[in-house]
Amino acid sequence: MKKLFQLLIPAQTKKIMKILGIETSCDETAASIIEINEKEGSIKPLSNIISSQIALHSAWGGVVPNLAAREHLKNIFPVIEECLATAKATLAEIDLLAVTHGPGLIPALLIGTTAAKTLSYVWRKPLLGIHHIEGHIYSNFIHKNIQDIQFPILCLVVSGGHTQLVLMSEHLHYEIIGQTQDDAVGEAFDKVARMLGLGYPGGPIVSTLASQANPVEKKYTVQFPRPMLQRDDFDFSFSGLKTAVLYYVKKNTAALSDPTFLQHVCYEFQQAALDILIEKTMRAAKIHHPQTILLAGGVSANTELQRQLAKKIAADLPETNFFFPALDFQLDNAGMIATAAFFRHQKEQHPEKLLSTWKDMETKANLKLETIL
Ligand code: KG4
Ligand code: ZN
Repeated sequence: MKKLFQLLIPAQTKKIMKILGIETSCDETAASIIEINEKEGSIKPLSNIISSQIALHSAWGGVVPNLAAREHLKNIFPVIEECLATAKATLAEIDLLAVTHGPGLIPALLIGTTAAKTLSYVWRKPLLGIHHIEGHIYSNFIHKNIQDIQFPILCLVVSGGHTQLVLMSEHLHYEIIGQTQDDAVGEAFDKVARMLGLGYPGGPIVSTLASQANPVEKKYTVQFPRPMLQRDDFDFSFSGLKTAVLYYVKKNTAALSDPTFLQHVCYEFQQAALDILIEKTMRAAKIHHPQTILLAGGVSANTELQRQLAKKIAADLPETNFFFPALDFQLDNAGMIATAAFFRHQKEQHPEKLLSTWKDMETKANLKLETIL
């Protein structure tokens, strides 16, 4: 906490910090430089390079870990070089390196952490390992001023691997008050897309088709279940919804060639998933009274989720602020890793020790989100 108050110290002692982030936990090779003006409290991206492997993995219907690692290895240094060049940043200007060290696919993560450790050693720069979900949460601060987002925060984390409600009473303090008992919501979008033969990743395709549906047209009618809504906890479940879609599609295979059918299934599935997410978030907000509600993770790119949650918050909790990440920082990116590293660095009691992180930083597939008090 003490370090965060340094944001309030006199102007002449303030500085501009540049952090180089690296992210390779899944199928994006990403590097980004974030500039934090400690006087103004502004957080600004100078570059945000993302090399996507979607074309490679879509042939397999999902991410193949060893193929992902091979691509990361090929791309990691060109991506970092492009990141430095785009930011017009010299090596000397980089104050801190940050890398995702979990959770994720081990072969993929190892390329990023090995590259970051090597750069830390060779360049003699401090290095911080960051949790991928911590990065997603902190993506909300990019393009904002630190003071714009007030605590306590309730964050709905929705990605391909996570669906959680996280309560934060202050920076880097995480209390997971609810989570999925089975599939993550992004995974459910991906699986529904696969059932419908729509390709990978499913989220963007399903949401596009859902937006083309005409809900008043009654050519097809179905209502999918909203599991867990009757329970008054903040946990989620998406496997029952996914199975209900599967049975409906199996009963109607002849209709798969009809675009109206595809739009209708996508619309009904998406609305069921959003109803669950929004209802649980609102319930948690009404009990925990956050000052701010945030969205984080790849599914935060879903414009209907953004719109419907914003509408509900404005109607039921008008005093509560609501934010979601800026467009380029919703899906996996490295700017979010650099941004989270700024806040971790602020709380670091012995920043000089970060010069030797390269020796002992672990890379973990199931890394836990760690609270710093
Ligand atoms: O955070 P992310 O990029 O990677 C993980 O950490 O998992 O999230 C990827 C997930 C995928 O499941 C993808 O289908 C989903 O986010 N997604 C979406 C949308 N865009 C991406 N889901 C619903 N609607 C979208 N527009
Ligand atoms: Zn992610």
